[in-house]
Amino acid sequence: MQPPFLTSAPAKVILFGEHSAVYGKHAIAASIHSLRTYLYVTSTADNAITLNFPDIKLYHTWESSSLSKIPSPSASIKIDDTIDQQVAEQIQNLIRESNIVDPLHTNAAFCFLYLYKCLIPNTSSLKFTMVSTSPIGAGLGSSAAVSVALSYAMLQLANQQTNKKLINKWAFVGEKCIHGNPSGVDNLVSTHGGAILYKKGTEAKLLDLSNNPLEILLTYTKVPRSTKTLVSNVRQLYEIYPDIITPVLDSMDSIACKASHILTQNEPDFQPIASLVDINQGLLQSLGVSHEAIAKICLLSEQLHIGPTKLTGAGGGGCTLTLIQDSTNLQKFKETLTNTYGFDTIETQLGGDGCLLVSNDDLNGGVIKQLDKLFEESKSNKVDRDIIDSLLLPGPNQKLPWK
Ligand code: PMV
Repeated sequence: MQPPFLTSAPAKVILFGEHSAVYGKHAIAASIHSLRTYLYVTSTADNAITLNFPDIKLYHTWESSSLSKIPSPSASIKIDDTIDQQVAEQIQNLIRESNIVDPLHTNAAFCFLYLYKCLIPNTSSLKFTMVSTSPIGAGLGSSAAVSVALSYAMLQLANQQTNKKLINKWAFVGEKCIHGNPSGVDNLVSTHGGAILYKKGTEAKLLDLSNNPLEILLTYTKVPRSTKTLVSNVRQLYEIYPDIITPVLDSMDSIACKASHILTQNEPDFQPIASLVDINQGLLQSLGVSHEAIAKICLLSEQLHIGPTKLTGAGGGGCTLTLIQDSTNLQKFKETLTNTYGFDTIETQLGGDGCLLVSNDDLNGGVIKQLDKLFEESKSNKVDRDIIDSLLLPGPNQKLPWK
């Protein structure tokens, strides 16, 4: 497909099974429809590739001559999702030569360039501008949404027959570039949307939560952390104490399986789910991935009788989810989290669309002008979430023909 066009992918929340998912245990995750990443692909006349990722302040242009020096990953590597280490090394060299040093920038650039080399190695004169309404590095799968949006866009540019399986496959490769050894749950749920029961290497099971719309409050602690570091800390613990950590991971597996059984029944019974949230948080804490800020939210939700809280995503800060069992003190809970601790609270519904596309055929001149303006403005000023949503958010009142 020729530019301009747009792709989009949602953030996600892991209800149960973060970290244990990396060890092949079950996890339950759901997409968050309204928190999305949007990628706008446009043509340029400069025989170069430009990245505008204002949310992380990454702006860079590579001449096609410098990109063409890097070989493409070998065909066999392209089939089995592994990262071609020789190509990876050359890309890392280019990133260093480009004076890109911030870890957030190097990860994003590596993900972009590796997918570029795999999928559209001979293309140039393109600009990729990305904006997101989801907090970055918060445990809500922002990197997976970025990988999915990039994978979808590059498959379109490569004129490949796209389906969700292929988009997810390349998004997983992108996630590997960012996280090293991801479980694959984030990219899967961001690609497909809805809610899933996931186990690495097996077919994911789609969960219908329509009988059990969980009421959840997400809290963003704003404490920065790195998924890669937290996952590798757990790995170290596992390697030192395999006989102690294995049962912890097995318990997390049982929690995810039990929860998926309860959540898909006709008669909702939240009490066991509440116990499972509590137990899962205790187990995550024992793996060393909780944080003082998370502990404060757990305590407050208990004191105000809201319901149990657990971290979601990699932990170490990031986000928590609180199961709202009793909303009597919900306002006070939210106010204290915001005013006393400086956290953000996010009320949102779980599930909804996975990755989506607005093709160039569906964009008229007027809309392109609006998109150019919004994405251009995003380069210099943080564009308000409401403004992004009003033009880009898919849904019943959508302005763009998302498919
Ligand atoms: O914090 P996030 O959104 O990057 O989630 C990571 C989830 C982990 O289970 C910790 C890692 C993984 O790859 O599944």
